Amino acid sequence: MTTKLQEMAHDMNNVITLISLNSSLALKVLRTNSDKAESCLIKIFNSSTKMTEILETAMSENVETTDIGELLYKLVDDLESTYNMQIDIIEQHQLIKSIGRNSFERMVTNIVKNANEAKATKVKIGLSKTSIVFVDNGEGIADHVAYTLNTRDEMVTTKDKGHGIGTHYIKSFCNSLGWSVNFSSIKEKLRYAKSGTKIVIKL
Ligand SMILES: Nc1ncnc2c1ncn2[C@@H]1O[C@H](COP(=O)(O)OP(=O)(O)OP(=O)(O)O)[C@@H](O)[C@H]1O
Ligand SMILES: [Mg+2]
Repeated sequence: MTTKLQEMAHDMNNVITLISLNSSLALKVLRTNSDKAESCLIKIFNSSTKMTEILETAMSENVETTDIGELLYKLVDDLESTYNMQIDIIEQHQLIKSIGRNSFERMVTNIVKNANEAKATKVKIGLSKTSIVFVDNGEGIADHVAYTLNTRDEMVTTKDKGHGIGTHYIKSFCNSLGWSVNFSSIKEKLRYAKSGTKIVIKL
């Protein structure tokens, strides 16, 4: 279970990440206009970067040898009822990895939440020796969004109240373990889904 303190640290980290990215952007734009604005922004940027470091230390959790399939089976019951979705796990291989369990759960929750927001009713999770693959039957991810997520270190959103935090978290969690992530829209008609989004995590 995630402790209250860890949850708080995660939430604060999300906010600070935004401050940090926005101030770095403003810094680029305002550099030529005003020395004072620049020095102010440098201070904001430095302190938010420092804050992120502090929070990341507070959020750090024990890395434990984990049966990923077993962890997913426990997690999906909650997710199915929270998001009113059907989640199928296809375990071709028993995946045992050293991971932070809370962080992994948070990543899967972000994936299912996004699928739900894209009107998906089903998510299929496939586990193989070298990958974890998520396929949903929602509206599908826009090609330009998938392109940005796959090729740039930028946050992107298409939602009115979105920030791009979900995929930012998914990518940073995977990258911290040396895993790669690829987002794509389903082009071919699958038996499982006529449209939707596929997320391939290569281990
Ligand atoms: N399963 C999905 N189906 C369709 N589009 C998706 C899916 N997952 C992500 N996206 C697209 O990627 C964008 C970024 O997702 P991300 O989770 O980072 O941010 P968000 O959901 O917009 O906002 P939030 O910060 O609340 O998570 C979304 O706005 C959406 O356009
Ligand atoms: Mg999201």
